[in-house]
Amino acid sequence: MKRILKWIGIVLGGLIGLLLVVGIGLFVIGRNRLNNAPEVAVKAVSSAAGDPVHGERIARGKAACISCHGANFEGEPFIDEPPIGYVPAPNLTAGGVGADFSDEDWERAIRHGVGGDGRTLVTMPSAQYAHMTDDDLADLIAYLKTLPTVASAVTERNLMVGGNIIFGNLAWSSWAVNTIDHANVGDDVTVGVSAEYGEYLSYIGACRECHGADLLGADDPDAPQGPTLAAAANWSEADFITALRTGVTPTGTQLSDEMPWIEYKEATDDELSALWMYVATLGE
Ligand code: HEC
Ligand code: HEC
Repeated sequence: MKRILKWIGIVLGGLIGLLLVVGIGLFVIGRNRLNNAPEVAVKAVSSAAGDPVHGERIARGKAACISCHGANFEGEPFIDEPPIGYVPAPNLTAGGVGADFSDEDWERAIRHGVGGDGRTLVTMPSAQYAHMTDDDLADLIAYLKTLPTVASAVTERNLMVGGNIIFGNLAWSSWAVNTIDHANVGDDVTVGVSAEYGEYLSYIGACRECHGADLLGADDPDAPQGPTLAAAANWSEADFITALRTGVTPTGTQLSDEMPWIEYKEATDDELSALWMYVATLGE
């Protein structure tokens, strides 16, 4: 009996030791990948001729940057819970990363998913923003550079052991930097009232982050659960525009603020018409 117990003890001890070694290995690999993103070639964009007025409409409206980075771009906690740890959407003003960001740094973060310090950005919707045209990006950066300095409401990302293991291994392939076709960022699209331009707006509006890759319902259980847009595909243009402007759907439902209609309502009539034309194609 004693011998059996001894053997059980040795086997259990060995298993625990093995798990510990695997855990430490995954932690070290994960942390290293998260702190040092894969190298990506950046496409040069100059913000010198960018239009900050249009850039403001992108940041506050069409691309809803403020829904995560704060109304004054001062930063906001995005994830703050075990086992992951702390992931803030950073301060984009000169009180934060804006202090020393070059056009290249902005482009690398927004369209490639790599932070100014070379870290892998997690949960920032760069895979959607990778579609942003060079013109729109130049306008956006021109605006971000004019932001008044605001003191940071956040500190640096601080992942727990679990966060490094999970984000750096299990979720690793899902991060923007690993999904973007880095040589082909920046769509070639003509501004207009067309389904094609509406599709572009759906990318830079990051609709897929919550409504799923095909917009037919959320596919990430941890993201806000955006419903399928198949029903909205059959709304009239007027109803669709009212829903995005007021948050009230044709059935009289008031949309919660999980859906960033507060930001999208800043879009022009033409932009919302284009978005509707595209969403209508989902019902075909
Ligand atoms: C869904 C929330 C969300 C939205 C919307 C969003 N961001 Fe982010 N952003 C984040 C988070 C979270 C991080 C930090 C990720 C990390 O540290 O791993 C981040 C990181 C960044 C960084 C990197 C800063 C650094 O420390 O190097 C920049 C720049 C940035 N975002 C700009 C933007 C801009 C511009 C927009 C709009 C076009 C935008 N973000 C929209 C959540 C968001
Ligand atoms: C941050 C997550 C998020 C993003 C980004 C987002 N949505 Fe939503 N959306 C939601 C959620 C959650 C709901 C359901 C809200 C509720 O019922 O209160 C919703 C509801 C809707 C509805 C109502 C659908 C119905 O049948 O009632 C429409 C239409 C819609 N979203 C369109 C869009 C479009 C277009 C975009 C991109 C321009 C977008 N959403 C981006 C989260 C999001």
